[in-house]
Amino acid sequence: MRVGVATDHGGFSLKQELVTQLRAAGHEIVDFGAHGQNPDDDYPDFVVPLGQAVANITPDKDTGIGDWKQEDIVELSRTGTKPDLDNVQGLMYEVIQGTSGGYKDMKKEDALAIAAYLKSLPAIKNKINK
Ligand code: HEM
Repeated sequence: MRVGVATDHGGFSLKQELVTQLRAAGHEIVDFGAHGQNPDDDYPDFVVPLGQAVANITPDKDTGIGDWKQEDIVELSRTGTKPDLDNVQGLMYEVIQGTSGGYKDMKKEDALAIAAYLKSLPAIKNKINK
């Protein structure tokens, strides 16, 4: 699996250890940083670029999920199935299936609340290159 990792200085050493273990297990790592110890750096500096590389779940119609209905987002978060009937892949799939309480076990009203929140966000144009 291709796995993106990101931490600030607080998690830097742990990230290096984790990257070594994930590579040994055969995964491809994309390291968004930090790339050294800098006490002045901050987590959003690294995790925002990671998030922007993974998926666009803002209501942008061209590059995001602007065409999805609220029920489509609920369906994806509880089953992994997208409106085009493809299944979501990778880490998102693991998050849904879980081994001890994945999103598939989430209450429908909670999934509806998350979906309503996502639909309320401003649309951001950001095409994901997989
Ligand atoms: C309630 C919280 C979440 C919601 C509603 C959500 C929603 C989504 C949606 C709608 C997509 C599909 C985008 C598309 O194909 O156009 C997606 C993809 C993805 N999500 Fe989530 N997500 C959530 C939490 C998470 C978490 C916690 C992680 C990682 C720890 C994650 C990782 C991913 C990844 C890696 C993809 C890309 C999968 C692929 O390329 O098929 N998501 N997410």
